[in-house]
Amino acid sequence: MSGALPVGRRAVIIDCDPGTDDALALWLAIASPEIDLRLVTVVGGNAGLARTVANARAIVGLAGNPVPVVPGAERPLRGRFAGERAVHGDDGLAGVVLPEGPPAVQALAADAIRAVLRDASAGSVTLVGIGPVTNLALALATEPALAGRVREIVLMGGAWGEGNWTPAAEFNAASDPEALDILLSLGPPVTLVTLELTMQALVTPARVEAIRRLGGGACLRAACDIMAAVPPSRRLGGEGHALHDACAIAWLVAPALFHAERVGVEVDCGPGPARGRTHVDRWGRSKAEAQVTLPETLDTEGFFALLGTRLSRLP
Ligand code: RIB
Ligand code: CA
Repeated sequence: MSGALPVGRRAVIIDCDPGTDDALALWLAIASPEIDLRLVTVVGGNAGLARTVANARAIVGLAGNPVPVVPGAERPLRGRFAGERAVHGDDGLAGVVLPEGPPAVQALAADAIRAVLRDASAGSVTLVGIGPVTNLALALATEPALAGRVREIVLMGGAWGEGNWTPAAEFNAASDPEALDILLSLGPPVTLVTLELTMQALVTPARVEAIRRLGGGACLRAACDIMAAVPPSRRLGGEGHALHDACAIAWLVAPALFHAERVGVEVDCGPGPARGRTHVDRWGRSKAEAQVTLPETLDTEGFFALLGTRLSRLP
């Protein structure tokens, strides 16, 4: 199996925790005609909710996009968010300062997501989760009938093997495993963009400079400044860092860049060291239903060419 549904313009809600790679994902989505961005909702995660909301406002504001930004959960269904300041800094954008964006909408993310879904026709809205998926789970778990309005749920999260937050778990999955477990069991088709996929979108100084040389406006420059400011990943050999969240958007706009398989996925919601681990059954050994589409390979050069071309379209 390869690629997602045929590429056409689709209505999309993005839930995020900006977050340096969230910024790139939002700008890629805004710059892509294949995406009709209806709503941006925000969750605490990489930084506190006040920061992630301010960053989301600034990111969409710099792109001059009127999409509503709505705050959501500042804690997971159980416990607390811990923040990932080693990667994103205390401000969430690795120290890159953007002009203040338009005000957030005074509402709650889960309510705003449900309002968009209620207005939608069956199977017409794509939900993209690029942070802990607390808001998406709250929206759908409290009104399960709305799941029928969802075309696809695309999540950056999880890992086949080693985690990047604990030895067992990837950050988004580890931050709210119960929320991820709810989304995997609700019914709409789920595509899970794991660490093994995103490590193929390795940001290196050469790739940043190649994008910067394209010229473009304030968004491209800020995107390159942010990518340049994120420290290289020890897990990936110190050569660069993975542009995790933008891969989830690329899946929607350029599925031909990917090869994907159908697999079964279970989330460990226990209290132990494996909490948040996504057990990916790649070979059908568990006899569990293969309910998840798992992009396995990425055309890396094609990905960065797409990213640069789209960023250069932004103001
Ligand atoms: O593990 C990577 C994920 O955690 C990305 O979404 C990044 O922004 C952080 O939220
Ligand atoms: Ca994120």
